[in-house]
Amino acid sequence: MSTTEPNPESRAKLLREQLHEHNYKYYVLSQPSIPDAEYDRLFHELKDLEEAHPQLRSSDSPTQRVGAPPLDSFHQIKHRVRMLSLDNVFNGDELLAFIKRCREQLEGQPDLRWVAEPKFDGVAVSLMYRAGVLEYAATRGDGETGEDITANVRTIRSIPLRLRGQSFPEEVEVRGEIILPKAAFEELNRQAEASGSKTFANPRNAASGSLRQLDSRITATRRLHMFAYSTGYVSDDSLPETHYETMLLLRKWGFAVSERVQLLENDQACLQYRDALAQARDTLDFDIDGIVYKLDNYALQEKLGFVARAPRWATAYKFPAQEATTVLNGVDFQVGRTGTLTPVARLEPVFVGGVTISNATLHNMDEIRRLGLMIGDTVVVHRAGDVIPKVTSAVMERRPDSAEAIELPPNCPVCHAELTYDESVSAVRCSASLTCPAQRKEALKHFVSRKALDIDGMGDKLIDQLVERGLLASPSQIFELKAEQLKLLERMGDKSAEKLVKAIAASKETSFARLLFALGIREVGETTARTLAAHFGSFDALYEATLEQVQALPDIGPVVADHVIQYFSQDQNKAMIADLLRHGLHWPQTDAQQTKAQDMPLSGDTYVVTGTLSRFTREEVQERLRVLGAKVSSSVSKNTTALIAGEKAGSKLSKAESLGIKVLSEDDLDALLNLA
Ligand code: IVH
Repeated sequence: MSTTEPNPESRAKLLREQLHEHNYKYYVLSQPSIPDAEYDRLFHELKDLEEAHPQLRSSDSPTQRVGAPPLDSFHQIKHRVRMLSLDNVFNGDELLAFIKRCREQLEGQPDLRWVAEPKFDGVAVSLMYRAGVLEYAATRGDGETGEDITANVRTIRSIPLRLRGQSFPEEVEVRGEIILPKAAFEELNRQAEASGSKTFANPRNAASGSLRQLDSRITATRRLHMFAYSTGYVSDDSLPETHYETMLLLRKWGFAVSERVQLLENDQACLQYRDALAQARDTLDFDIDGIVYKLDNYALQEKLGFVARAPRWATAYKFPAQEATTVLNGVDFQVGRTGTLTPVARLEPVFVGGVTISNATLHNMDEIRRLGLMIGDTVVVHRAGDVIPKVTSAVMERRPDSAEAIELPPNCPVCHAELTYDESVSAVRCSASLTCPAQRKEALKHFVSRKALDIDGMGDKLIDQLVERGLLASPSQIFELKAEQLKLLERMGDKSAEKLVKAIAASKETSFARLLFALGIREVGETTARTLAAHFGSFDALYEATLEQVQALPDIGPVVADHVIQYFSQDQNKAMIADLLRHGLHWPQTDAQQTKAQDMPLSGDTYVVTGTLSRFTREEVQERLRVLGAKVSSSVSKNTTALIAGEKAGSKLSKAESLGIKVLSEDDLDALLNLA
């Protein structure tokens, strides 16, 4: 039997096919089929072959994705078919009016079918394929002519260099949006920050900046992605009759088409799609700015035609913008519970993310320096979902001559005590501890908060009043408050005063972990408090604890351990604790405290809970897991034991899947809780 060395040409062809296939599975389907090392081996074999036989190199080779030498400028490319824009609607009524208009203009047509899809917030691109091979790629430009970004586009792994399958038109333009996923955007900015270069204000700008690189080797390092959403020029009439079928065809050709593209049969379904996507918006891996509704049937699209530059058969339903520009009128410094001064931006009120905001946190002076902010600047403000608003950048071109530097105050802005500077964490603190009214208020608010002593009816405004009137200076005085005193406060009737006194009395029965958390020891959150409570079980044990003992506990590092030891060594803290105990604060010994942590059924395991569960709330599930000794975390990492995923699980589920972390359903959870 004779073994013939495959000739280099057929070997290169085979390697290219295999690499395309693996690439497709990895970047389009997110289902890796071979280990990275194996991919690298095939890749290098092909690269070597192409180097040895340059005539074998082809433009659709996977080796062409690493970027090419820099260009001097981008060439212009005229689109074979114009790239259109879309008209907007902003609410359900406007959407229904749009649908009604289409129906009226298509008089006599049976019920219309719609395709709804996310409106990706990125950069539009048009890709020309000739005989199935990517020939060039262009930006939208003015719709008629765009820029040739072929070299950059070749580096994007989810864009096929060669269409999959056998049957496609001789020439076809595929259109879509190039985006930078949120995680890749954050990583890029982290790197930029670390190396002292300019950060991007949002993922769209980062995508656009990456595509505008003249050096495609830089673009190759950005994890860009493309979602295909339509075709442009097509050289024959082989396309399906509907948009939806075209999307399925694009998927077959190897493009990433969003899983959220949906065929809708009526008005109600269009509204339901809107509700669902609006709710899922913040859980998606990428930014969207709305929904695009398109009439499904091409023949009907053609009947409706265009007005100016937008089709009559499609519309963009815009979600409230999560970004807006406004003016920075000033910066106040707020004094927090542990005395830290936090700069807060006072903004000209602006509507963003569906609400009007006039304040945004600036974190610390380092952040102000990083953003290069000055008072009077026009700034970009970002607000996504329920997340607190953030200033993300200043528009330098609009800085007025009168702009002023932002300076730290010389003393505590509330009690005028001296400030201390902790360079290691770039924090500035008021040195007055609980004699500073601001720190006192915040400490008390924390003490009564839901996860601490959970005193119902004791809100922030009430505490402000009590402190300002000199009725409350320390936590133990809460337990001395009388209904007669409370009645005299603003917005406090007889009934609510009595109710509050009862709630205060009821809060005396608590858990040791809650009380430890309530004390507000620096950097001791709920989880650390629980660990300390389970391990030490009493204040006496904590007073005797050594740094080594505390540091030896799971997830407690040297800094936190030091805060704990410091706290329990101070006489004023011991006196306050003694006062609290004198007022009758107590807690039952729980099983968890009596059992050694390592004896518990789920000890050593870390769980993350996501999505909607039908039988319990997420908090209940987390509590049950903790009682069994498990750790509960809010984010999936390689240390996660399993993800418990309810309905509508979003990015955490995809992350768990990509990391190969076990995913448990609600039934699995039942089994786990009963079994354990
Ligand atoms: S269809 C005639 N579908 O939105 C149809 N556009 O204002 C034209 N966009 O520049 C586009 N996601 O870049 C379509 N699923 C989607 C889209 C989408 C984002 C962008 C597109 C265009 C702009 C239209």
